[in-house]
Amino acid sequence: AGELSTVVAVDGPSGSGKSSVSREVARRLGLAYLDTGAMYRAATWWCLDQGVPLGDGPAVAAAVRDLPLVMGMDPAAPTVTVGGRDVGAAIRSTEISSQVSAVATNLDARAELGRRQRELIEAERSGGWSGGRGVVAEGRDITTVVAPDADVRVLLTADEAARLARRAREVHGSDDAAAIAATRDQVVRRDADDSTVVEFQVAADGVVTVDSSELDLEQTVVAVLGVVGRAGDPQ
Ligand code: DC
Repeated sequence: AGELSTVVAVDGPSGSGKSSVSREVARRLGLAYLDTGAMYRAATWWCLDQGVPLGDGPAVAAAVRDLPLVMGMDPAAPTVTVGGRDVGAAIRSTEISSQVSAVATNLDARAELGRRQRELIEAERSGGWSGGRGVVAEGRDITTVVAPDADVRVLLTADEAARLARRAREVHGSDDAAAIAATRDQVVRRDADDSTVVEFQVAADGVVTVDSSELDLEQTVVAVLGVVGRAGDPQ
């Protein structure tokens, strides 16, 4: 199994465009799409729903082990379901965004979510949503920890100005000075917090860097598809 399947791993910081780009690459290639950041967000939502204090590391780890999470991996309509509830919208709230680092920096929670991510990726190699075609999995540690043996590994970067402008447009619908200022603290602080447990600013050995600072979505998708295509070429 797996010889004809493709696993594409994409990492990068907030605002690099990795979610939109990964989803579109998956859609065009007929691959499943796995948003691992959504799993950290769903775990955070679950802790809050269950009344688990996010400052209590062992309690968070225990809650994440019991997390009743189902990831819908169709890139045209990805879903996130916890205990039968569709939390796709709720996990994008500023409340979750501002607290998700408590789960992302919990090493036991990371081990559990990483184990589930490996299972989901492995399932797509032989079946799953893609019927064995494979998966585009995106996050912070997919190229290095979760799927270091992926067929294609990409680090999607962008300079800070480009990342702040993208997040400001996503969250505030504008990239004027006020929206940028409101975004800066969240994006820069969260990436700084998350960097203490996982390196996603520097490409690991064998990982191809794509810098999207000067590229729009379509150009970035084409660049990543180019990396995928070259990985399939006979040497
Ligand atoms: O990409 P995002 O904003 O949805 O990620 C949510 C949080 O989860 C963010 O704090 C980074 C963290 N994360 C992680 O630590 N490892 C991953 N593989 C994916 C996300």
